[in-house]
Amino acid sequence: MTKMSIQKNISLKNYNTFGISVNAKSFISVDSVYELQQLLKVEKDIFLISGGSNMLLTKDIEKLVVHIDIKGISIDREDDNAAYLTVNAGENWHEFVLWCVSENYGGIENLSLIPGNVGTCPIQNIGAYGVEVKDTITKVEALDIETGKLVQFSNEECNFGYRNSIFKNEVKGKYIITSVSFKLTKTNHNLNSSYGAIETELTSKGISNPSLKDISEAVIAIRKSKLPDPKEIGNSGSFFKNPVIATTQFLELQKEYPTIPSYPVISSAVEKSETQVKVPAGWLIEQAGFKGKRYGDFGVHEKQALVLVNYGNATGSEIYQLAEKIKETIFNKFGISLEIEVNIIK
Ligand code: EPU
Repeated sequence: MTKMSIQKNISLKNYNTFGISVNAKSFISVDSVYELQQLLKVEKDIFLISGGSNMLLTKDIEKLVVHIDIKGISIDREDDNAAYLTVNAGENWHEFVLWCVSENYGGIENLSLIPGNVGTCPIQNIGAYGVEVKDTITKVEALDIETGKLVQFSNEECNFGYRNSIFKNEVKGKYIITSVSFKLTKTNHNLNSSYGAIETELTSKGISNPSLKDISEAVIAIRKSKLPDPKEIGNSGSFFKNPVIATTQFLELQKEYPTIPSYPVISSAVEKSETQVKVPAGWLIEQAGFKGKRYGDFGVHEKQALVLVNYGNATGSEIYQLAEKIKETIFNKFGISLEIEVNIIK
């Protein structure tokens, strides 16, 4: 434990992408699994922070805050078609994506510019522009907080779903993810450029046969045009999940709101659900008049209503109260319950 040092009363403002200024009573950064194991021998009641990109802090943290800063990427093996990589939890997600694109490893290019670190990508099964990270993950390694032992979860055991996994449910709070293993393509990349905005972006650049880099750049351009950069305006990406509703309810709503958009719910690898559809929460929130609304130092992003923002000195409670107000309004107007996607730390 020689390298480890505990800091007292530090602000967490720079450790969460919402830029909420709460204090940690005590804080420690760990850069190896060994250090983490040593730490767990003396303290198990900890509060974990990694990229801090999916949390809303509403109060000071009394527990020891443990910042996971374990770095390193290793190529486990390669064959003609695929590369098998293990990436430590503290690696920045977007830098990892850019590195894969430069190495011509395919599969996660659509997930460019998502904030956060590699270790947290399986928890909510990050997804964007037709791709979810679950399709490339082979294994997740994690420390059992109780025993201090490393355990492995296969892809199947992670029980991935839309913005969901076992780490948000059955084993929540029991493990610390230390690394994630991926299988990425080296040839015959399964490019996913069918998402409308990507197609439009590629066409406008005259690209008909896109490379991994072309797709990554298109995604970066789209995200920059719609989503606020956390370095400039605090935010946590989509604050709510897109709700899944019964097709019958959707058809009723369509009578009143003929332009209401919907997406199919994929119920298995090949089938889409006949009984349920997904509705973009951003549309519902915009219809309810919240898009671009600013209240003091917080509000709803002007270009994407699904994103709540901190313009500087908002508190987590203010943003949480706004989220509750939005939920209530959407329920009263459409009869749809929105589910918060971001972790609220109360
Ligand atoms: N829309 C509006 N108004 C808005 C925002 C959206 O009407 O202010 C409607 C439009 O009809 C638009 C549709 O919603 O066509 C979909 O919007 P968008 O393509 O921006 O995607 P989204 O459904 O709002 C989801 C993910 C994003 C991801 C994008 C692209 C969730 C909760 N969010 O957003 O993920 O980047 O698709 O794939 O599934 C995140 O999770 O943090 C995140 C940013």
